[in-house]
Amino acid sequence: MPKDWYEWHDLYNTEPKLQQRLEIVQEYIAYSLNALPSGSIRVVSICAGDGRDLLGTLKNHPRRNDVYARLVELNPQLVERGRATIESLGLAKQIEFINGDATLSANYLEAVPADIVIVCGVFGNLAEEAELNRLLDNLSFLSKPGAFIIWTRGHSNGIPYSDNVRKILSASSFEEVNFKLTDTANMGVGLHRYLGENLPKPKEQQLFVFSGIPSKAR
Ligand SMILES: C[S@@+](CC[C@H](N)C(=O)[O-])C[C@H]1O[C@@H](n2cnc3c(N)ncnc32)[C@H](O)[C@@H]1O
Repeated sequence: MPKDWYEWHDLYNTEPKLQQRLEIVQEYIAYSLNALPSGSIRVVSICAGDGRDLLGTLKNHPRRNDVYARLVELNPQLVERGRATIESLGLAKQIEFINGDATLSANYLEAVPADIVIVCGVFGNLAEEAELNRLLDNLSFLSKPGAFIIWTRGHSNGIPYSDNVRKILSASSFEEVNFKLTDTANMGVGLHRYLGENLPKPKEQQLFVFSGIPSKAR
């Protein structure tokens, strides 16, 4: 059991579920980059970990020079690793890694509204459905109309939690572009488009509460 979120990332080395999830997330990031019109592309990643999903995609992507991204992550070791990757890719002028609280709207100022919002490993770490609805509502501050939203939701105890996420998204201002289950069949990865308006000012200073713990991460 990982004792912190830094150790949790080691599971990427051994867990097919996480490896397959990463592959699908990267596929969706690449799809979104390809689909966006020419010009600059803004990306934000909420609770970004070490940024391997976005940075791994940009490594070989033809639109890498169009991307301006802000990744927000609380764990300083993960941020350090992410920043080292950014340096090694030569993207330091375009990509910033904030070591801060991703639940606070202040940490996105001047980086939003975004064309792509990455919310991976977050929905399963919200205490209840009301919190998911709150975060989805607050995406109106982070997202341009038409923005791509990339998300993940693990299943546990045989409960297909991603079904519920898809239902909630479809019932609010989001249109499904793609959805896949990992081959392990216990992790859903979704790509949606935000159909609502952008709110230039956040409704709330705190966009959601992240209550998960690494030893029970879903
Ligand atoms: C399940 S991991 C997902 C990491 C990454 N998005 C991925 O998919 O590989 C959740 C991440 O959220 C981070 N986290 C937890 N609470 C946070 C907060 N309030 N602000 C920013 N990051 C937070 C953890 O440190 C951890 O890296």
